[in-house]
Amino acid sequence: MRVFSGIQPSGELHVGNYLGAVRNWVALQDQYQCIFCIVDYHAITQEYEATALAERTFDMAVSLLAAGIDPQRSVLFVQSHVAEHTELAWVFTTVTPLGELERMTQFKDKAQRQVSVPAGLLNYPVLQAADVLLYRAQRVPVGEDQVQHIELMRGVARKWNARYGDGFFPEPEPVLTPAGRIVGLDGQAKMSKSLGNTIGILEGPEQIWERLRPAVTDPARVTRKDPGNPEVCNVYALHQHFSPSATVEEVAAKCRAAAWGCLDCKRVLAANITREFAPIRERAAALQAAPEQVREILHDGAQRARSLAAETMSEVRERMGFLSAEGAARPR
Ligand code: TRP
Repeated sequence: MRVFSGIQPSGELHVGNYLGAVRNWVALQDQYQCIFCIVDYHAITQEYEATALAERTFDMAVSLLAAGIDPQRSVLFVQSHVAEHTELAWVFTTVTPLGELERMTQFKDKAQRQVSVPAGLLNYPVLQAADVLLYRAQRVPVGEDQVQHIELMRGVARKWNARYGDGFFPEPEPVLTPAGRIVGLDGQAKMSKSLGNTIGILEGPEQIWERLRPAVTDPARVTRKDPGNPEVCNVYALHQHFSPSATVEEVAAKCRAAAWGCLDCKRVLAANITREFAPIRERAAALQAAPEQVREILHDGAQRARSLAAETMSEVRERMGFLSAEGAARPR
């Protein structure tokens, strides 16, 4: 069973994409052959800073490696280093119904905020289908918000197979992250770097505390003496991801009894987040001090990805009837 997943080159990982994706990726490496891709071609479908792209891609690689993606067991590479991604995406645009792309929730959301909608934004899920199917991966660990894209991907595989090659591409299935949707420190929106409602996994104890201190808790708890309701508190939700179960129980009880104030509760959470991220920070510092090592890992990852991708593309070309570029004097 082969696993594939992708993440945008947004620089440093944060608590949202760590819990929402990467912690799960790290675990999946024990069971599956995994391929992880930093999807820079997806990143350019929305406005971005060209002068920052390379650095954000590199930083994402550092974060992923520091968080536990193991290049000995898994393939880690940058999407634009493997040309076959865009090649297969083009092929797939010819079997993807326009109407289905226009119905994608994420497309509608993003398009709405744009004066002029680039075709790349519409074709975003086609490229995503190519990412996964290029390696004929059967499992795709993602968050809830990507399920619709995986459904589309299954349709693309089905339609291509129907025309050109019965059963050649598998119909990949999503592996949903156990953590579910991670709400930001504002207690409202999904955690995201652009909203500034998150904590970076490479931040130190003081920065973690600075971010956590003003985090929104139970809005009904106005004063220190009011009992709180952990069920509606996002800080409590984070405890469930970072604290041992005995602490989680203690936090809930002390909140309900107003024995602890929100700051007491946050201090414990800050300590537990700091503890989980400390070894990651250490590994990241070592990688940042040896950038050539990171480049070599990505170079090697791209090479391994390319050889798998080339196999798929040569099958695809043959099944679709293209004239071979190989040395034969006459077409066959
Ligand atoms: N669209 C995904 C996201 O925003 C990123 C992505 C690109 C991806 N290609 C992929 C995820 C292939 C899984 C598989 O999170």
